[in-house]
Amino acid sequence: MGAESVFPQYFHCSNIKIGVLKMIRKTKFILLFFCLCVLVFTRGIGSCLSSKLEKAQNLDEKVRSFLDSRRYSWRDMNVSESDGKVLYDIIVKNNYTKALEIGTSTGHSGIWIAWALSKTGGKLITVEINEGRYREALENFEEAGLSDYIDARLADAHELVPELKGPFDFVFCDADKGWYKNYLIAVLPKLEVGGCFTAHNVSARRGRRQYGVGGFVDYLESLSYMETTYDSSSWSGISISYKRAKK
Ligand SMILES: C[S@@+](CC[C@H](N)C(=O)[O-])C[C@H]1O[C@@H](n2cnc3c(N)ncnc32)[C@H](O)[C@@H]1O
Repeated sequence: MGAESVFPQYFHCSNIKIGVLKMIRKTKFILLFFCLCVLVFTRGIGSCLSSKLEKAQNLDEKVRSFLDSRRYSWRDMNVSESDGKVLYDIIVKNNYTKALEIGTSTGHSGIWIAWALSKTGGKLITVEINEGRYREALENFEEAGLSDYIDARLADAHELVPELKGPFDFVFCDADKGWYKNYLIAVLPKLEVGGCFTAHNVSARRGRRQYGVGGFVDYLESLSYMETTYDSSSWSGISISYKRAKK
């Protein structure tokens, strides 16, 4: 007769103890493994975030030093620095990502728009008809480090803008003023609700509306679903119109 059949309770207890010990060992191992995974994962995320931050800081430095070096040399009907900042702020504040610019020239406004889009993860399509200015803009975009955020097109915007698929959430209109109303009509169906249509050289005061933008403003203000204000800080004038409803 074996000891197990003489002292069955004892054997039963020791089996339970062994089982519990095994379970504790297993749990310790699982916990250790879990902690290791968490450590590796958080380190991975941490280094990914810090390399993203570093990239963004490097880009900021590059854009700033480019803009500083060119501060007084924009001579191709380009917007002023303060107007560029107005566009930048609208994009960042509203987290816009799908931008269209009509009238690139040599790229000053495009740089401010694309810089803002580098913060929101967006992209700009910009259109210019003059080949010389278009080529210079390409060089400027490259030098500013913003080429990845810009799809620059050499085209007649009268033809291209109606063909663009969209959708857009930000538009900056700065080409031939007499065509502004047509650009607006072509873009409105592709402008998302909550999106913004801005136009340069448009002022609140009728007396200051030059270059034939009067028809554009009258049309804009007749649209009940567009909420329009005029930037008062801008010497040139910028109209800022938010699309509040589909129609
Ligand atoms: C006022 S400038 C744009 C300045 C630019 N937004 C900036 O601040 O750097 C107007 C530009 O629109 C371009 N333009 C005029 N008519 C156009 C058209 N039909 N299609 C495309 N571009 C046009 C002109 O060649 C000119 O370079």
